[in-house]
Amino acid sequence: MKTEDLKKLLSEMSLEEKVMQLVQLPGSEFEADAAVTGLSERQSSDKAKSLVGSILGVWGAEKAIALQKRYIENHPHHIPLLLMLDVIHGHKTVFPCPLGQGATFDTEVARKGAEIQAKEASAEGVHVTFSPMADLVRDARWGRVVESCGEDKFLNGKMISAMVEGYQGDSLLDKEHVASCVKHFAAYGGADAGRDYNNVELSEHTLREQYLPAYEEGIKAGARLVMTSFNTLNGIPSSGNKWLMRDILRDEMGFDGVLISDWAAIAEMVKWGFAKDNAEASDLAMKAGVDIDMCTDCYSGSIEKLIADGKLSVELLDEAVMRVLTLKNDLGLFEDPYRGASVEKSKEVLLSRENREVARDAVQKSLVLLTNKENALPLSEKKIAFIGPYVDEKKIHSSWAISCDPEDNVTIKDAVCEYYGLTASSANNENGESAGDDISPKTDLDSSDKTVCIHKSASGAQVIFAKGCNMLPNGTDLGYGVYKTDDAENDKLIKEALWVAEWADEIVLCLGEEIGQSGESTSRVDITLPKPQMELFEVVSKLEKKLVTLILNGRPLDLKDIPEKSSAVLLCWRPGTEGGHGIMDVLTGKVSPSGKLPMSFPWSVGQEPLHYDHYNTGRPKPSEGASIFSSRYLDCPNEARYPFGFGLTYSSFEVSEVRLSKETLKSDGDSISASVTLKNTGKCEATETLQLYIRDMVGSRVRPVKELKGFEKVTLLPGESKEVSFEIKEDMLRFFTINNRFESEPGKFTVYIGTDSSTENGAEFELV
Ligand code: NOJ
Repeated sequence: MKTEDLKKLLSEMSLEEKVMQLVQLPGSEFEADAAVTGLSERQSSDKAKSLVGSILGVWGAEKAIALQKRYIENHPHHIPLLLMLDVIHGHKTVFPCPLGQGATFDTEVARKGAEIQAKEASAEGVHVTFSPMADLVRDARWGRVVESCGEDKFLNGKMISAMVEGYQGDSLLDKEHVASCVKHFAAYGGADAGRDYNNVELSEHTLREQYLPAYEEGIKAGARLVMTSFNTLNGIPSSGNKWLMRDILRDEMGFDGVLISDWAAIAEMVKWGFAKDNAEASDLAMKAGVDIDMCTDCYSGSIEKLIADGKLSVELLDEAVMRVLTLKNDLGLFEDPYRGASVEKSKEVLLSRENREVARDAVQKSLVLLTNKENALPLSEKKIAFIGPYVDEKKIHSSWAISCDPEDNVTIKDAVCEYYGLTASSANNENGESAGDDISPKTDLDSSDKTVCIHKSASGAQVIFAKGCNMLPNGTDLGYGVYKTDDAENDKLIKEALWVAEWADEIVLCLGEEIGQSGESTSRVDITLPKPQMELFEVVSKLEKKLVTLILNGRPLDLKDIPEKSSAVLLCWRPGTEGGHGIMDVLTGKVSPSGKLPMSFPWSVGQEPLHYDHYNTGRPKPSEGASIFSSRYLDCPNEARYPFGFGLTYSSFEVSEVRLSKETLKSDGDSISASVTLKNTGKCEATETLQLYIRDMVGSRVRPVKELKGFEKVTLLPGESKEVSFEIKEDMLRFFTINNRFESEPGKFTVYIGTDSSTENGAEFELV
C-alpha cells in the first residue's frame, strides 16, 4: 500500500479503531475460554478482540492463518493483525542462549542463528520477534544476563546488529524474515543489586558510553521496533520517560519504528508511584512516544477520554497509529495477511537437518574451556562415566525459548550413545538388564540399589551413565511450584555415583543451574551450583581421578573449588537443541573449544557488579607489595577469577609484541595499524580470538583501564603463524567528554592486543 493510501485508511478509521491499533493482547485471549489474569472485561470482550492491533504468543501456521482470517473478516476496515512472539534464541531449532552466543565472539553465529529463527517463526505465522535483548549486563546476580551477549558494549553491539540483520534480512517483504524488536530500552541490565524490575541509577556519561551503544547498533541495523524497559532510570520509569524516548531514541538515534511497552510496563508506572492512575500513565506513555501498550487496558481504557478532555491530541494518536500501520504495510500484510505462514513450509523448515547443523556449529563455538590440566581433554575413550543431573536432561535450552519442545533437544547422553554407537534401547535400559550386544550388567556393583550398567562400544570404549544427584535441593521454590524430591533418593544417587566413579578411568560430571534459575525474575544472591550438585562434586572429586566438569549455566557462577579439583572445566551455557552433539564434538576433540567469556567470572558474588572496563581509581591495588589503603577487598582479589575474553583451546598460542605502524595519530581520517604475530605453538588446529583493547591515559572524565575495540578469530594449524592487524582511527577514541558530547581528546593511548582482557601486551601512541 502506498503512504497516501495508508493515510486515507487512517482518516477513515474511528477513534476507537485507532486506539485499538495501539493495544496488544496475549494470544491466549483468542482461544476459547482462556482467562488471562489481569485482563479486564473490556479488554477480553469480543469487541476488543475484533479491533486489537496485535497479539503476542501465538504460533503455528494453521492457528495463525485461522486467527488472521477470522480477525480480518470482523475488522471494520479489514486491517490485518500483527503476530508477535519471543523468539529469543530459537523457535523450534534452539541455538545457544544469547550469553552463549556472546561467547562465540562470532557475528556470523548470531546472524545465521537469527536468520534460521526468522525462517522457522515466519513459517509458523510470526511477524515480529521480541529480540534481540541489547541490555548491557555487569551483574551476575541478575537472571536476565542469560538473554544478553554480555558485559561489553562493543561485543554486544556487534552481536546485536548481526541478529537484527539476520532476523530482518534485506526486506520485510521477504516472507522468510520477521521484524526485530530491540529491547529493553534502556539500561534494564543496570538494576540495583541485580534485582529484576528495579531502579537504575546511572550518570549520563555512563549511560551514553556503556549502556546505549548496543541499542543504537540495533537501530542502525534497521530494527523496526524497540521495547521499553521495566526499570526506572534515575527515578523515571522508561515507559514515561520523554527525554529517553523522544529526545534520545527518536531524535538522536533517529528511530522511527514502533515503540512498544514491555508487558504491563505502562500500568506499572502507577505502582512505581509515578502516575496516579492508568489514565495518567497512558498520558505519560503517549507523550513519551510509546506506540503499543502490551497486555493491559491502559490505552484501551484511557486514550479516548484523554482526547475528549483535551489532554492528548488526535495528532499524537495518529502519529502512533500510523507507525503501527506502516509496520504492517512494510511486512506486506495488507497484500498478504497470512504472509509466510504455511503448514508445508513449516514441515520443511522446522528443525531441518540444515538448521540443526548450524545450531550444532554454534554450540561448538560457544563452549568455554576454563581449565585443562595435563590435557585432560579431549577424552581418551577408555572407561568413561557420565555422571550428573545434566547427563540425560532434556531441558538444556533457557527459559526464554518458549516455543522449544524439550523432546527435540539432544541430551548429552543421546550424543554419547550416538558417538559410541550404542543403541537407544540399550542406553535407555537403566535397570541393569542386558538389552543387546553392546551392553552388559555391571556385576561388580553388587548392590540391590544398582540402577546403572556398562555400555560397550564396538571401538572398545566402555561407558556408564548415572544421574548422580537431584538437580535442586528438595523444597526449592523457583516460583513455578515447589521442587519436590526425596532426600533419601538423592543419597542413593550419590552412593551410586561413587560406585560408578570408582569404576571409571575418566569421569565427566554434568552439572549446572536448573533451567528456571536464570531468565526473567530469577535474581540470585548465591551464584553457586545447587547444593546436591556441589555435594556430588565433593564426593566424586575426592577420588582424585581424571575429572572433567561440564557446567550448563545461564550466568557467571561462583565455581567454588570446582576448577582446582577438576582436571578440566568446560562451560556449556544453555546450549539448546544441539547441545549434546556440540558438547560431544568438543569433548571428543572433533573440534577444539574456542569460546571466550562474554562476562567476567567472579571469585565471589560479593564482587558483583564486576566488569573488566572499570576505572583505575586514585589508589589502584599494587600488583605486588603492601596493599593497605588501596582500593581492595580484604578477603578476595579485585580481579575476576576468569576475566572477560578468557577461554582456552586444546592448543597453545603465542602472541608477539604489539607493533604500531607509527606513534602519532592525527584526527583527520588518519589511521595507525596495530599488529601482532599469532603462532599456534601446540599440537592441534585451533581457533584463537585476538582482542584489541585501548586505554585513553588521561581524559576530561576518567577513562576505563581498557575498552574492547576489535576482535578477530584466527584458525591456525600447529606451528602455523599469522600476522593480524587492527586499524585504529580517531573515531574509535571518542567518549562522552566533559563537554557532554562524543569527541576524542588529544593525548596518550595504550593499545593492547591479547587473548583476554587481562592482557598487558601493549604499545603507546599519541593522538595529536
Ligand atoms: C516481558 C519481558 O520482559 C520481555 O522481554 C518480553 O519480550 C515480554 N514479556 C513479552 O513476552
